[in-house]
Amino acid sequence: MIYLTRRETFNAAHRLFKKEFSDEKNLEIFGKCSNPNWHGHNYELFVTVKGEINQDTGLLINLKQLSEIIRLYITDKIDHKNMNTEVPFMTGKIASTESLAEAIWKELEQPVAACGAVLHCIRLEETENNYVEYYG
Ligand code: NI
Repeated sequence: MIYLTRRETFNAAHRLFKKEFSDEKNLEIFGKCSNPNWHGHNYELFVTVKGEINQDTGLLINLKQLSEIIRLYITDKIDHKNMNTEVPFMTGKIASTESLAEAIWKELEQPVAACGAVLHCIRLEETENNYVEYYG
């Protein structure tokens, strides 16, 4: 079994909040990310896939193909967008790094499988100090 990781970057705006809560309560729970007037992050996304090496090619997966899958299913839809209001796979979800990593997994699992690899981990870095890892 071999593991391969592709890194992609995007930036997106969000606000962490629950509409039932007051601005004060949202600030208490979600901190600065609850700012009512939005703000953005430069995200780094690491998609790790696993599988066996193809003995004909010496490769696990075509990296260009993996990069295109991530672009098509994720970065084209979220880059320079507001994930609370205009990103289909985040509709109705709290725009946290945790939920975003889970949503990205759901978007990529099938297309990665169609390329003959298995999705292993979504690592999503929101800032240099905060990241999540999701293993499905
Ligand atoms: Ni934030």
